[in-house]
Amino acid sequence: MYLTREEEMMLDGEFGEWISKAIKLLIRIGELNNAERFIKIRRAHISGVSYKTAGDAIIELLDDMIEAGVGITIHATLNPAGMDLENWRKMGVPEEFALKQKRIIDGFTRIGIIPSLTCAPYFFENRPNFGEIVAFSESSAVVFVNSILGARTNRHGSLDALAAAITSRVPLYGFHLTENRKANILAIVKNDEFMESHYGLLGLYIGRQLKPSEIPAFMFNKKPNLTGLRLLGAAMAASGALSMFHAIGITPEAKTLEKAFSDNNYEKLIVAREEIKSIEEEFFKQDLDELEAVFIGCPHASLDELKEIAMFIRGKKIRNDVKLWIFTSRYILKQAGNLGLVDKIEEAGGSVFADTCMVVAPIEVLGIKRIGTNSSKAAWYLPRFADGKIDVTVSPLKNLLHAILQ
Ligand code: F3S
Repeated sequence: MYLTREEEMMLDGEFGEWISKAIKLLIRIGELNNAERFIKIRRAHISGVSYKTAGDAIIELLDDMIEAGVGITIHATLNPAGMDLENWRKMGVPEEFALKQKRIIDGFTRIGIIPSLTCAPYFFENRPNFGEIVAFSESSAVVFVNSILGARTNRHGSLDALAAAITSRVPLYGFHLTENRKANILAIVKNDEFMESHYGLLGLYIGRQLKPSEIPAFMFNKKPNLTGLRLLGAAMAASGALSMFHAIGITPEAKTLEKAFSDNNYEKLIVAREEIKSIEEEFFKQDLDELEAVFIGCPHASLDELKEIAMFIRGKKIRNDVKLWIFTSRYILKQAGNLGLVDKIEEAGGSVFADTCMVVAPIEVLGIKRIGTNSSKAAWYLPRFADGKIDVTVSPLKNLLHAILQ
């Protein structure tokens, strides 16, 4: 890889040990991907924040960085942690876990990363512009940034996104380059009967069919809303490690079918409800009446989703033997509070948590075993993150809420 004089000095340790380590890692990744040079960035988003997934190793790493005086100067934000920073006791998170989690967030903050603690920073805390190259490391946010915003990121791991933030640059390759952003699969979706959770199931289906480098262009006969597109992108990133899709006539680089494909040859895939029936059955694990909890907000719930939930359950009561937990960002929680939505949800017996999510919180120690959600990504990861001790059922939001009301 070609290095500028400044990058050579970074590598030689003239700006400190950590910048040297960080650029070494990025050079290795760049060389593996045939990058010719670096490009400077102004934004990054870092995952691997929860004590549940990152463990003690991240505490030691951050302590070393603080001692060495690492200071990140670009706009960098953090993915969800393992608990709501204000309401972790209400969640039932053990004190020992909470102390470690606070140390991790404090460490990231001290090296200059904004503790946004959300996987949907694109709503407010960290929203890249069209065409901007960034380093994001949360797979659902990677898909959103590439597909919905038309900004450009490769799918980074937590360490290489951190290295990108430390050095303010990334090797230039993959989804940064216009020629790698054209679709090569036309997915014709007959979505007349789809509810929002079906888009997530469609995402699991597509993720299983395609390779990570492939980009589907969806042609819908009925325009999905943003919630549907977010559930779709998050799920295809989970089951297939895909990083981008186009939706013809909807997403910014696919205004027309010709623009989505350019000169690429493509195969056609027809998807209707029948095609995703087997996945629907695979992720329908138990009768909705037997659920112990309904978790919504993977990816973190938008204000529109909170409105929909509040309007559906206002004036009603959730059964005492079941929890309704909604996960969102602290910013959206505040907006929802101002609009009276949080009060409506809490009066019905539900809870809205910020800073964390159902997958990276230590749900397995809370004794909850039968969970319903509208998110296929959550259904994909929850049992894996809990040693298979949890059964997850995917169902549309309204069916889940209806099942748990008194
Ligand atoms: Fe976000 Fe957690 Fe799902 S980080 S995308 S809510 S697994």
